[in-house]
Amino acid sequence: MNITKADSESIQRAAEIIKRGGLVAFPTETVYGLGADGLNPIAVAKIFEAKKRPAFNPLILHIADKSWLKRFSGIENEKVERLINKFWPGPLTLVLPKTEIVPDIVTSGNTTVAVRMPDHPVALQLIEASETPIAAPSANKFGHLSPTEASHVAKYLGDKVDMILDGGKCSVGVESTIIQLHENEIYLLRPGGLSKEEIEKEIGGIKTGIIDQDKPNSPGQLPFHYSPQTPLKFFHKKFLDENKKIGMLFFKENKINFPFVETKFLSPSGDLREAAANLFSQLHELEKENLDLILVETIEEKGLGRAIMDRLRKASNKFL
Ligand code: TXA
Ligand code: MG
Repeated sequence: MNITKADSESIQRAAEIIKRGGLVAFPTETVYGLGADGLNPIAVAKIFEAKKRPAFNPLILHIADKSWLKRFSGIENEKVERLINKFWPGPLTLVLPKTEIVPDIVTSGNTTVAVRMPDHPVALQLIEASETPIAAPSANKFGHLSPTEASHVAKYLGDKVDMILDGGKCSVGVESTIIQLHENEIYLLRPGGLSKEEIEKEIGGIKTGIIDQDKPNSPGQLPFHYSPQTPLKFFHKKFLDENKKIGMLFFKENKINFPFVETKFLSPSGDLREAAANLFSQLHELEKENLDLILVETIEEKGLGRAIMDRLRKASNKFL
């Protein structure tokens, strides 16, 4: 297996792979990314091939320093400035008008580009050493669970990447929050690791509707996504069948009297941050158990609860 512990020597080798147009999976604070040189269209094409991702879905450019942004977007906007100063590096992706140098394959032909500065030393050192923005989706096959540990990447993409840099478990555990600037309003495209409340504290109210009715441009707007192989449904008594192998994902405690084959707890202390950080790894664990059904508890949609419920809803939609 090509998992390599991240240190300054292996990061340097990974950067050489990026420069040569190869693929490197690397840790960020949200989830593992499947990275390629974001300014090399052929390298970026390899990402789509490895992920088996529909070509209409654009990628995020990851940068190592706030000052890199102006190369990829000429935008000058006060709200954007404030968000960057407050939340970068961190789990916030900005969709902004793009400059000429961003290849169409990165943006799927959109006139906008998604950019983020991740808050993870391995990611930042890799981007810095590669001397280029790294285009990276989550390092899973399209539609599957997102990876929050190096072993998750190896499971699905092990033979498709040149190197997997192991930087341990992702601390945030759900993807970045994606927002778009459109006519001086900020729209939330995907709830994620930075809560809407925190963003609104900084710049006031943001919008949640769809900007362009014609095209779903963010996974927040695709009907299903992030699904385990095992059918997943929100808990309801009617699903409890003792002849089936059922696993249950609880928020903090088990309040149900039923012989579940497996039970997991997102956060025994009831902390939404901890719950988000555990979400995908616990779904990966449940997926491994060859269950007939995974049931999940609903979570209150405030703060990071919104991102968690978004992922769970998308995961369950596949099995409706
Ligand atoms: O936390 C994250 O965001 C992780 C880590 C690796 O950084 N990346 C990630 O990438 O989740 P991905 O590709 O799985 O999800 C990014 C989403 C895409 O599905 C795409 O729909 C949206 O960002 N996106 C990218 N460029 C966009 C654009 N120009 N307009 C609207 N949405 C865009
Ligand atoms: Mg993804």
